[in-house]
Amino acid sequence: MKTRITELFGIEHPILQGGMHYVGFAEMAAAVSNAGALGIITGLTQGTPENLAKEIARCREMTDKPFGVNLTFLPAVTQPDYPGFVQAIIDGGVKIVETAGNNPQKWLPALKAAGVKVIHKCTSVRHSLKAEAIGCDAVSVDGFECGGHPGEDDVPNFILLPRAAEELKIPFVASGGMADGRSLVAALAMGAEGVNMGTRFIATKEAPVHEHVKQAIVAASELDTRLIMRPLRNTERVLNNAAVERLLEKEKELGPKITFADIAEEVAGVYPRIMKTGEMDAGGWSCGMVAGLIHDVPTCKELVERTMAEAETIIRGRLEGLLGAQPKVAAHA
Ligand SMILES: Cc1cc2nc3c(=O)[nH]c(=O)nc-3n(C[C@H](O)[C@H](O)[C@H](O)COP(=O)(O)O)c2cc1C
Repeated sequence: MKTRITELFGIEHPILQGGMHYVGFAEMAAAVSNAGALGIITGLTQGTPENLAKEIARCREMTDKPFGVNLTFLPAVTQPDYPGFVQAIIDGGVKIVETAGNNPQKWLPALKAAGVKVIHKCTSVRHSLKAEAIGCDAVSVDGFECGGHPGEDDVPNFILLPRAAEELKIPFVASGGMADGRSLVAALAMGAEGVNMGTRFIATKEAPVHEHVKQAIVAASELDTRLIMRPLRNTERVLNNAAVERLLEKEKELGPKITFADIAEEVAGVYPRIMKTGEMDAGGWSCGMVAGLIHDVPTCKELVERTMAEAETIIRGRLEGLLGAQPKVAAHA
């Protein structure tokens, strides 16, 4: 399948693996890229530009296919060394960057000068248009159902994607709720040129996370995520657990007076405990509603190949079949 996204990134299949904190290590990105999709290393997870440089080098040893690096700009107590991370990306010869969280304009001149293609993740049409205006090459349009930070507009992909298609000239992928060939075909029908999957890629054999995390995703239904930190305007969709319930109680009790310090126990330093040690009640960790569609733990290759095969079956079998035979002569010819 060729789309503007496969052409832009030089990949075989129009499937991206979004950057994921404490998941996007070299093993994850290389497995996805080796499957013909686009794997992405999560920049900030590496901690320092030096470690990111090492991770890029490690990934290159595991794949000769294109892969990218995610740079997330989110509110942080101490600002990460963004100039250092950008330099590590450029020096490491990485040609694709996924930005998210905030306007990446400041970093575009350096990235562009190094021939890096930038795909910015946006949760609204207005931010997508801004990304286009400042020179991003593509957008990842992230609907309300997504795992992670869905923004504050709450527009699901059935509306957001066709709206993006009405407005954007640059190509975009559908992000949030994408799991299989059905998602891919639906995304294409709504004007996207591919899909970005987060949660789905965690439940794969190669994802470098604790087995408990994969099993929690398989066990979860579409009803098991919650939105946290809404009062702080830093909404995150997470899998429900004891810590999340405690956090939501605090949000109810404290109302608009709540501060980050009130919920630090439930959100600070949670990712290594969840992803590395499998302490599933350690706190809130991002997970999409798509968990309800995830029933197994395949290899990345199996996942990507069956997604493409299913998409083809739907297009050629189901959709074309619905139209019946093509008329031999146009009615008024
Ligand atoms: C565990 C987890 C961690 C994530 N961390 C990040 C991150 O650090 N930066 C980022 O831009 N997106 C992050 N995301 C969002 C994903 O890249 C992707 O946009 C999202 O998962 C898509 O929705 P889906 O989970 O329904 O596929 C994360 C998602 C998950 C599930």
